[in-house]
Amino acid sequence: MKKQSKILNWLEERFDLSGINKFIDKKVVPVHKYHFWYGIGGIAMFLFVVQAVTGILLLLYYRPSADNAFESVEFIMTSVRFGWLIRSIHSWGANLMIFVLFVHMFSTFFMKAYRKPRELTWISGVILLVLSLAFGFSGYLLPWNKLAYFATKVGTEMASLVPFVGKEILIFLRGGEDVTGATLTRFFGFHVALLPAITMIFLGIHLLFIQAQGMSVPPSIEEEYKKNPKSIKFFPDFLLRDAVGWLVVLGLLGILAALFPWELGEKADPFASAPQGIKPEWFFVFLFETLKYVPPKILIFEGEVLAILAIALGVVFWMLVPFFDKRAQLNKPSPLFTAIGVTLVLYIIIMTAVSYLFS
Ligand code: HEM
Repeated sequence: MKKQSKILNWLEERFDLSGINKFIDKKVVPVHKYHFWYGIGGIAMFLFVVQAVTGILLLLYYRPSADNAFESVEFIMTSVRFGWLIRSIHSWGANLMIFVLFVHMFSTFFMKAYRKPRELTWISGVILLVLSLAFGFSGYLLPWNKLAYFATKVGTEMASLVPFVGKEILIFLRGGEDVTGATLTRFFGFHVALLPAITMIFLGIHLLFIQAQGMSVPPSIEEEYKKNPKSIKFFPDFLLRDAVGWLVVLGLLGILAALFPWELGEKADPFASAPQGIKPEWFFVFLFETLKYVPPKILIFEGEVLAILAIALGVVFWMLVPFFDKRAQLNKPSPLFTAIGVTLVLYIIIMTAVSYLFS
């Protein structure tokens, strides 16, 4: 028998672990000048775990009703031992995770990792990003404070712009005509049950595909790489490198959460007037700003309705990029798609900056 831990021996006497052992032995990660970017997906996964753990801890004290939500978060922050830290880590972690996901998405985009055979990995990734944005949107309302209340009012109103079924979507999201306690209860259900369940399914699919297909090598260096292929073993070498990244991110999260504790603000008051310059969370700001520049009427159509349709089409296009980028599928350079990616990154940065600096 091989020299290994007693636990492994015990398991091996009972189950056939040869498949797993072979997989562990065989799995390697390519090493080249873009190797660094392979770690970003792992950081997103690490942050997802942090969100799950801190979220479960918050659940022990949080109460999802208009009468109690704000007070329960106040209680967590003032009376529960380390409650303020857990809440702060959960809030900072959510924002950091979405930021990391954007970096992961654009890095895999520019490395053309969506090429055959990884089209479905890309599609499951886009779905995971949409789910993460929905986590952010639903979680924002849960403390039931003034800013979140009005931002949710504005955000859900956008849904009513969808032609034909806008009103139905609005009522489904709000649990009625207005943002009320019913909306809070509904968002709570989305945030702690529905979204985690759907995310687990798509995360499972995403990770399964990656394990089955291994990591891609960007086409720009593929020829060069084939001449001199270098790789490291996934277990334990790559995993240990990944773990260093996770530790750095955990340190950053700790510093942000402790030095800049997440604020609670004032309790929501549906009868108060909306605060000036209300904005959604930063990751929606570029879309919010875009809508401001749309004229009220474009030909015979309402400008905002057309804009919402254009955004929806944009998301579908982005999801189907692997099928549109025919040159990348043939392993040829596709400068048009690189240019589309660069334009999108610049657009997001510029619109977000304009919104925070000038409006
Ligand atoms: C919760 C969200 C997500 C998690 C936890 C996650 C996790 C991962 C991990 C661990 C990897 C392998 C290492 C790496 O390439 O970084 C990976 C690869 C990949 N991910 Fe994601 N991901 C998520 C979202 C996304 C998004 C939003 C996209 C793009 C729309 C995406 C597209 C891809 C692609 C195409 C690969 C394959 C890369 C290659 O083979 O070179 N993922 N993901």
